Amino acid sequence: MSQVTNRLEILENIRSAKPAILPSMLLCDFANLEAELAKLEQANIPALHLDVMDGIFVPNFTYGMTIVEAFNRATELPLDVHLMIARPLDYIDAFVKAGADVITFHVEAEDNPAEVLEKIRSHNIAGGIAFNASTPVEKVLEYLPLCDLVLVMSIEAGFGGQKFQPEVLEKFQRIRDAADHDVVLEIDGGVNRETIQSCVEAGAELLVAGSAIFRQDDYTTAVEAMLEQVSA
Ligand code: DX5
Ligand code: ZN
Repeated sequence: MSQVTNRLEILENIRSAKPAILPSMLLCDFANLEAELAKLEQANIPALHLDVMDGIFVPNFTYGMTIVEAFNRATELPLDVHLMIARPLDYIDAFVKAGADVITFHVEAEDNPAEVLEKIRSHNIAGGIAFNASTPVEKVLEYLPLCDLVLVMSIEAGFGGQKFQPEVLEKFQRIRDAADHDVVLEIDGGVNRETIQSCVEAGAELLVAGSAIFRQDDYTTAVEAMLEQVSA
C-alpha cells in the first residue's frame, strides 16, 4: 500500500497524471519482477493495475493476495486491484491486508454490490464497480453514490490482448451524467496507441494497458507513444 491513507487522495494522486496510464501486470515477466518494476517506474506510470482471476467468474487464472502482497513489498507505487472473482465480498479484507490501495470488483459477480462497496470503504481505501463490455451501464448506475471510481471494460474480462470495443465509450457520459459526485472513470481492455485518444475524449481518466506496454521492448517508449496520441 502506498503511504497515502485517504481513499480519495489515493485516486486524486493517480489521476493527476494526465492521462494516467496504468500497466496491467498480467503480461509482465514475473521471474524478473524487480527489473520490470524499475522499467515501469522509469516510464513514470502512476500506479499498477493488478488483475485477479479465479477460474470461476472468468475462464482464466492469474494470481491472488500472495502476489498482491509481493507487489506491495516490491514497490511504493499504488496498487489498483481489479477483482475478477466470484464472491468478492469474502476476499476484500484479505486484499486490503495484502496492500491494495484501490479495489474494483465485477457487478456481474455479486448479488449485493452495495455491501461490497461499503466493506471497501470501511477500510478507507478507494472502491468501485467494474463491468464487462456486454453489461448494460444501467446495472451500475444505482450504486454510483458508493463508488469512488467505475471501471468500464472495453472487452469481456478474462484475457489480455483482446480487441477494443468502441461501443462502450458512450457509457462514460451516462455515468458522468448520473453521478452526483466526481467519480473517477477507468477503462480496461484493448487500450493502445490507436484507441487511447477515443477513450480520453469519451471521459476515461485512468487507462489500463497490458499488451500495448508489455509486448514492446521499451516500456518508456510504449507509454510515451500512447501519451503522444492524447496530447496531439
Ligand atoms: C482483462 C484485464 C485487463 C487486460 C488488459 O480481463 O482486466 O487488465 O489484461 O490487457 P490489454 O491491454 O492487452 O487488453
Ligand atoms: Zn484489469
